[in-house]
Amino acid sequence: MKRRELLQMAISLGGAATLGRDAFAAAPSAAASALGAGEFPAGFHWGAATSAYQVEGAWNVDGRGESIWDRYAHTAGKIKQGGTGDVACDSYHRYREDIALAKRLNLKSLRFSIAWPRIQPLGRGAVNDKGLDFYKRFIDAVLEAGMRPYPTLYHWDLPQPLEDAGGWPNRDTAQRLADYAEIVVKAIGDRVKEWTILNEPYVFTVLGYGIAIHAPGRREPDACLRATHVANLAQGLAFQAIKAVDPRLKVGGAYSCGPTRPASDSAVDRAASERQYKFSNLWFVEPALTGRYPQGVLPADKQDAMLGVRDGDDKRVRAALDFIGLNYYSFGYVRDDPRYAVPGLNPEWTPRPAFDHYAQTDFGWDIYPPGMYEIVMDMAKHTGGVPIEITENGAAYNVGLGADGRVHDPKRVEYTRAHLKELSRAIRDGAPVRGYHHWSLLDNFEWSEGFTQRFGLVHVDFANGQKRTPKDSADWYANVIASNKVS
Ligand code: FCB
Repeated sequence: MKRRELLQMAISLGGAATLGRDAFAAAPSAAASALGAGEFPAGFHWGAATSAYQVEGAWNVDGRGESIWDRYAHTAGKIKQGGTGDVACDSYHRYREDIALAKRLNLKSLRFSIAWPRIQPLGRGAVNDKGLDFYKRFIDAVLEAGMRPYPTLYHWDLPQPLEDAGGWPNRDTAQRLADYAEIVVKAIGDRVKEWTILNEPYVFTVLGYGIAIHAPGRREPDACLRATHVANLAQGLAFQAIKAVDPRLKVGGAYSCGPTRPASDSAVDRAASERQYKFSNLWFVEPALTGRYPQGVLPADKQDAMLGVRDGDDKRVRAALDFIGLNYYSFGYVRDDPRYAVPGLNPEWTPRPAFDHYAQTDFGWDIYPPGMYEIVMDMAKHTGGVPIEITENGAAYNVGLGADGRVHDPKRVEYTRAHLKELSRAIRDGAPVRGYHHWSLLDNFEWSEGFTQRFGLVHVDFANGQKRTPKDSADWYANVIASNKVS
């Protein structure tokens, strides 16, 4: 498909960010345009991702404090089948085995997160050295295995005392995150060169404070909008704090992203889709890069009051991100509902329209590989030449151990193959993408879904001693990495 046709398709689908703008202007480098279909550039960061609460377990070990996910998971009725991250994959104790598995998969980059409540059990003040020591050991083992350690500072495990003080809607949380970032980077910055500050700020603010699907389970749309601004402040302040420790460190973020589509052909749904596109894709990127929020999402005359913006915040939210991480899984349908300031704050999920014809993963997410191309090209247009990494992409297929002791998961292979082909196409068309991380290395605790959704390349037998078994998809992915090509 030519770019012009793509642009028209995006417009007809309500891809707002392309409206009124020129098609992506960057010219592919000679090296990128010399790549063949399915090929990737030399030195590509092939990886997989995990996050602390989803894999570590050891929730009350070695001085770790309580997080909002501990509190939420320990509250009856919040998580499917009563799952918790108390043990999860027990990676706190089995990390050497996990790193060996990652190496066996030929990974070049291991994305993981650092648990704030291990470092500052109360979210402020006293530092727990045992927490820092764990991540030093972990990172040293990753380096010894010849992989890049690629940590995220905040993957949703806010210390509970900060939630008790108001949580993300409380402006003070921004400075708390910046202090924590400084502590970690001072202690570990010699070992790690690239730092991701926030994982999916859209998801932890909107799902956590707007529609009560994630911890801390609040359904407060007004507070949620303020939380989005505090997350932007946190990102800016943490960025500045890390650069003050060592300006050579590279600092970025990981953002959930994907096309939006109107749930019907009505004008109001089309307009809602355009607004939601900006809210879900650009709300935490544009303020960092420009100091401004995307226009046309909230009423211009009320926006500052709704967000709790103060004088000078345009400078505080600024962060000249060294890389942009994108988490892409699927697209979303959007319908208008005048009761909510932004469609994403509507707690009622938009039903799947009758015209939807896509196959779905076991999680019920529509499978749309061209969305990888569309969103990467579009984000690249917004972020200019800033390097992009895919920080997450993957699918839940709940396949267990077969009689032969193996896990045959051909659908995960097909999902990943199709998305990687689209990613290669974006690179050949000039998008500055330098890495891809599959979600996830291991089956793990999938938030409110508990252990019911398996995203891993490696199967974990939670009921039988946590035994790890690489799936067919793991072998397939190892070959992709070895050949730097998907076919
Ligand atoms: C993303 C999260 C990640 C994982 C995947 C399936 O939104 O960042 O932790 O749960 O979804």
